Amino acid sequence: MDERAVSPHIKSEESHLDAGLRPRTWDEFVGQATVKETLRILIAAAKARDETLDHILLYGPPGLGKTTLAHIIAAEMGVSLKITSGPAIERPGDLAAILTNLRRGDVLFIDEIHRLSRAVEEVLYPAMEDFALDIVIGKGPGARNIRLSLPRFTILGATTRLALVAAPLRDRFGAVFRLDFYSPQELAQIIRRAARLLNTSIDEGGVQEIAARSRGTARIANRLLKRVRDYAQVRADGVITRTVAREALALLDVDELGLDDLDRKVLRTVIEKFGGGPVGLETIAASLSEEGDTIMDVVEPYLLQLGFLDRTPRGRVATRRAYEHLGLPFPEDKAPQQPTLL
Ligand SMILES: Nc1ncnc2c1ncn2[C@@H]1O[C@H](COP(=O)(O)OP(=O)(O)O)[C@@H](O)[C@H]1O
Ligand SMILES: [Mg+2]
Repeated sequence: MDERAVSPHIKSEESHLDAGLRPRTWDEFVGQATVKETLRILIAAAKARDETLDHILLYGPPGLGKTTLAHIIAAEMGVSLKITSGPAIERPGDLAAILTNLRRGDVLFIDEIHRLSRAVEEVLYPAMEDFALDIVIGKGPGARNIRLSLPRFTILGATTRLALVAAPLRDRFGAVFRLDFYSPQELAQIIRRAARLLNTSIDEGGVQEIAARSRGTARIANRLLKRVRDYAQVRADGVITRTVAREALALLDVDELGLDDLDRKVLRTVIEKFGGGPVGLETIAASLSEEGDTIMDVVEPYLLQLGFLDRTPRGRVATRRAYEHLGLPFPEDKAPQQPTLL
């Protein structure tokens, strides 16, 4: 279905790649310096006091390291990690079953936590706050409420959409961290490490070329490396140089900034169909027959980061840089009014 070379969402054939290259220790985890430092302090303090870790919420676009951090946090705490996701917990009973199986200190990772249903959230609140599970026994007039106490555990929530996490849920996290896009230098480090693990020869030009086109995303850096490696093996002598990387990425239709066909289509739609905006993301998605989620999670954050789109109260607006990137003339009436000097 989703064949985008730069889509950071995981396809199943790829979770292999993710798992194999996933950093297991703080030393292997590149970048996100502030998040890393703050987490290390939280963990050290909890361990020193022999307490369980506070509930933690991680947010940011896909492929930046949320799941990876969950693994590292649990390993550092020396506890086990249980993994589930918002859509997987269908009924309150499903959550109750998961919670009653946790041992003291365990970390429960809930991916896509913004997709929990309201009914499930209602069970989660007392569990997070009081480590208690309120259940109803029996039916009708004889029904009784009982409160089961749970061992203390840690909820680690992850989301690509902080705005969709209900306020009462957000308030129950002791710490909230935003993951940022990686710099080209950080991506280069990630690519060098992955090339080592994959036993691939790559020179510095090749590293730089892939880093520049990975749209700030660790998962995409790894994926592009793997595709370029295939190309190098078949069309070159197996060594990834700048030239080999360029040829391979051109074949994948990934441009110098890492934009692919869908990114360019979104920009073109804003510019050509909607006069450069403002236009709502849902309208853009509908006119492209694309999932609004893909556009919001994947396309928009990077275009905002590049300064190709601006967010305004009335919708998204394409900037002069977007026109220039596509080689389209920027309508001068869109330029901000220059103050007149008298
Ligand atoms: N800080 C990092 N340093 C090195 N590699 C990383 C880092 N963050 C993520 N990765 C790589 O990117 C892949 C995807 O990261 P993941 O944690 O699954 O992202 P998310 O859960 O945010 O979508 C990981 O398997 C790992 O190989
Ligand atoms: Mg993840």
